[in-house]
Amino acid sequence: MNKILREQIKNNILAISLGVILLFIYETILVKGIDLIGVQIDILLNAGEIVDYSFIWKLIQMAMWGFLASFFSSMLIGKSAILSVSHIRSKVVMIIPDLPYKYLSINGTGEIVNKLISDIDKVRILLEQTFPNLIMYGATILVICFYIVKRDVNLLITIIFFYPIMLFVSKSIAEKLKILAQKRAFKNDRLTDIAIDSIHGIECVKANNIDNIMYMKMQRIIDDILKNEYERTRVSSLSWVLQMFIKWVPMIICIIQILFETMSGKLSVGNSFTTIILLNKMVHPMSSIPFLLNDYKETLVSIERIEELMNLEKERGGNKVLPLKCENNEILQFYNVDFKYNNEKNVLNKISFNIKNGEKVAFVGPSGSGKSTIFKLFIRYYDPENGMYQIYGNNSKDITIDSLRSKFAVVSQNTFLFSGTIYENIAIGNFDVSKDDVIKCCKRVGLNDFIEKLDKGYDTIVGEKGCMISGGQRQRISIARAMLKDAPIILLDEPTSSIDEENERKIKLMVEELLSNRTIIYIAHRLSTIKDVDQIFVIENGEIVQRGSHNELMRQDGIYKSLYKRESENV
Ligand SMILES: Nc1ncnc2c1ncn2[C@@H]1O[C@H](COP(=O)(O)OP(=O)(O)OP(=O)(O)O)[C@@H](O)[C@H]1O
Ligand SMILES: [Mg+2]
Repeated sequence: MNKILREQIKNNILAISLGVILLFIYETILVKGIDLIGVQIDILLNAGEIVDYSFIWKLIQMAMWGFLASFFSSMLIGKSAILSVSHIRSKVVMIIPDLPYKYLSINGTGEIVNKLISDIDKVRILLEQTFPNLIMYGATILVICFYIVKRDVNLLITIIFFYPIMLFVSKSIAEKLKILAQKRAFKNDRLTDIAIDSIHGIECVKANNIDNIMYMKMQRIIDDILKNEYERTRVSSLSWVLQMFIKWVPMIICIIQILFETMSGKLSVGNSFTTIILLNKMVHPMSSIPFLLNDYKETLVSIERIEELMNLEKERGGNKVLPLKCENNEILQFYNVDFKYNNEKNVLNKISFNIKNGEKVAFVGPSGSGKSTIFKLFIRYYDPENGMYQIYGNNSKDITIDSLRSKFAVVSQNTFLFSGTIYENIAIGNFDVSKDDVIKCCKRVGLNDFIEKLDKGYDTIVGEKGCMISGGQRQRISIARAMLKDAPIILLDEPTSSIDEENERKIKLMVEELLSNRTIIYIAHRLSTIKDVDQIFVIENGEIVQRGSHNELMRQDGIYKSLYKRESENV
């Protein structure tokens, strides 16, 4: 059995065991009740009347105990199932923030969302319906078999004779259903991916008139899913017919057997009545169990997908915590760092640099040269393939992830806003920040007037009732966040196209004024804006091809000078 399920059974073993014992008690009472009616039929047929009516009182008592046992059994088993589902759900939800950046950037959001919603729901159905039914049917079969064995072993042989055939058929069907379930899960992931893309990228979809393309992409997958479902229905219908056949053939043979045995006097009429009723009661569970096992096999696909999420290696940091105020002067150093995203060619090649406390540094270079990748390595979304990255004189791998990231604040127009109030979005995670601090910051970054004009001011929910935040405002929010976080290193990476020169200069000035006394690292697309920084690193094809101040670089005949000239000519 699967690890997740074993763990849940172990956690609830007491309640499940008690529930199963009560279920056996209930089934035994039921069989005894039916048997009692059979005995009364024999008395009636032999004596012509029933003299002792106390059996009615006995039946009422049995029914009462039976109901109680059944009630508590289903409560215990049901409660264990609900607890298990909630436990699995919270375990999965808790790992989301810990998912490695690498995993999230490679796997589609659709796959993760489906694992969190639809796969967990399938596990819920398994635990809340399939498993309790399996236990109940198992108990019914065992108790009735025990009764029939005592009365007539031949009948049991007749029924059991057909069972291996049924198991064999359902097993081969289960394999096919499992493959179809895997295909369905994969296709659903793709569909969710495209749906999420269409929602997140609505502006791009509309602007480029690609509504139809998105629609056709989705329709193609929906058609694929439909084909898959047809195949699934075909296989399950076949199994349904087989189930009916295998269910009724032994039953009919048994009834004929019972009739002959009754005529020959081997079974009394009462006994044959009881046996037929019990056989009838057993047929459904017997034929259903193999198919419930099929459901279990299908759900295994979902469980395996959830387990894959749970088993993902978490972001691994070291054990060392950086002090609140680090005294080192050399704060960020790369020694011959190589890096690649996948098994293709290096994106960064033998990168080495040394950034000192309080410096202003800029990375420049053509698009795709590797500037943002360096930032991703700074905050350890990824680790170097070769070489070493040191922060405040420590190997980055020795530092806890939290401690390392607490030293950085990122300022960007792409700042993500969570669903929540503006206040929560600015204070983000800083529980010791008061509303006054947030307002003070917003006044300094020039956001206060805009926020105060909103209906509910700082308590306005982002995105609600037209509370739309522009790119520039997002950037200011990220500056306010950085001020509140009070991190010593500021990373400023701007997308090339979405910001004009004037704005880029303004933001730079605002960051330098409001976040003074910090180390500021820019990724600049306009060289004119970073003329005054202490060090400029020119990156080309993942390598630092030039380094120095603006004046130093302008004295060299290199890519910097030609880029700068081209920029000046274009203005
Ligand atoms: N998640 C990723 N997986 C695989 N390759 C990636 C990934 N992110 C970036 N790359 C590749 O790595 C290279 C460097 O990308 P990077 O984003 O660092 O460039 P950049 O210098 O910041 O460019 P720009 O100025 O356009 O922002 C590019 O070739 C890019 O295609
Ligand atoms: Mg970039």
